Amino acid sequence: MLRALLLSGAALLALGHDEYHRPRGEGAAAEVAARELEPEYWAAEAFEGIARRLRDGANERVADRVVMFLGDGLSVPTLAAARALRGQRQGRSGEEEQLAYERFPVTGLAKTYCTDAQIADSACSATAYLCGAKGNRGPSASARACGAGTAAPPAPNITCTPSPPGRWPTAATSVGIVTTTRVTHASPAGAYAHTAARDWESDADLLADCGHADPAARQADIAMQLMNSYPGNNFKVILGGGRREFRPNTTIDEEGASGRRLDGRDLIEEWRARRAAAGVSHAYVWNRTELLRAVEDPPEYLLGLFGASHMRYEAEARAAGADEPAGRDDGGGHRAFPRLALLETIALSDAVERADALLPRDARS
Ligand SMILES: *[C@@H]1O[C@H](CO)[C@@H](O)[C@H](O)[C@H]1NC(C)=O
Ligand SMILES: *[C@@H]1O[C@H](CO)[C@@H](O)[C@H](O)[C@H]1NC(C)=O
Ligand SMILES: *[C@@H]1O[C@H](CO)[C@@H](O)[C@H](O)[C@H]1NC(C)=O
Repeated sequence: MLRALLLSGAALLALGHDEYHRPRGEGAAAEVAARELEPEYWAAEAFEGIARRLRDGANERVADRVVMFLGDGLSVPTLAAARALRGQRQGRSGEEEQLAYERFPVTGLAKTYCTDAQIADSACSATAYLCGAKGNRGPSASARACGAGTAAPPAPNITCTPSPPGRWPTAATSVGIVTTTRVTHASPAGAYAHTAARDWESDADLLADCGHADPAARQADIAMQLMNSYPGNNFKVILGGGRREFRPNTTIDEEGASGRRLDGRDLIEEWRARRAAAGVSHAYVWNRTELLRAVEDPPEYLLGLFGASHMRYEAEARAAGADEPAGRDDGGGHRAFPRLALLETIALSDAVERADALLPRDARS
């Protein structure tokens, strides 16, 4: 037994470096390799990191805006793999790479579990990170939930105004959501919907589960809540996929897909009509070209729905030359498409970097 262990240990040693960690013979790489032999190299790197954080000091100013990025389903192992892949794509061994948010002055870890299940879902984890309170796992589709309505009041949360003084922004006037899933999918829906079942994205889902989709019932479907209930009806920006949840089943959308609604309502048209009646500038867009045009002279209200269902994976949209902004982590993980999930994670890092550059630190009061 001991011998077998020793042998396998020797086999590992003999394997040594992998294709990314071959001995580096020349130029800058060789210099780095030589320096990496010295403990001082690593100590200097660590001290530099500590000094940088001390220089930044504690930031006690009050933020005037909050940008929350969520890498849905983005685990610590996924981060490690994406970091290595990003470095390798630049011809390095990869581990030394840092994603945009790993360079921030403060980092932390938070637990986002459910109170009634060990494996969290997007709905109860949204309650955890948006409201700071833990809840039950969101039933996917459940006849049990019919009639439960919205018996429990929604927890105060980050998109919610007013909120308990001192906890969340009290005067947030401009709130929006941007996602690459359907805007009615559980993670983004956590920002505006209060529902007994996460799958009730259109009235067709309520009808299938409960035998009725009565808007007068205690529960409105998630698309309806986004368009007509607080706080979704106040969102200045709504960007993502999921057009089908907003259009009647009798209509075919811009890209040839059917709507799903059974109440005959076109919530996109209603949204436009309401903004027009209020005399506020607004735009509905469904492709990237129009999105870029809209942001040149940003309207006060922007609704962009870039797919009938979820948007495409970043890598797939690019490969197809699709006229669609893109990105999706969690879907890649669920379907065991590691390459897609890692490329999505790198795209997320790029998006964070871009947002960070657009919002200079000293402009924050
Ligand atoms: C956040 O608050 C809003 C407004 O009260 C509510 O509609 C929404 O359901 C809440 N979100 C969660 C995840 O509880
Ligand atoms: C739309 O839904 C209604 C109500 O369920 C149904 O009667 C009708 O056949 C559907 N139409 C299409 C085109 O699917
Ligand atoms: C983008 O949307 C606009 C407005 O509906 C449309 O005229 C244009 O053809 C679309 N572009 C593409 C590439 O589909």
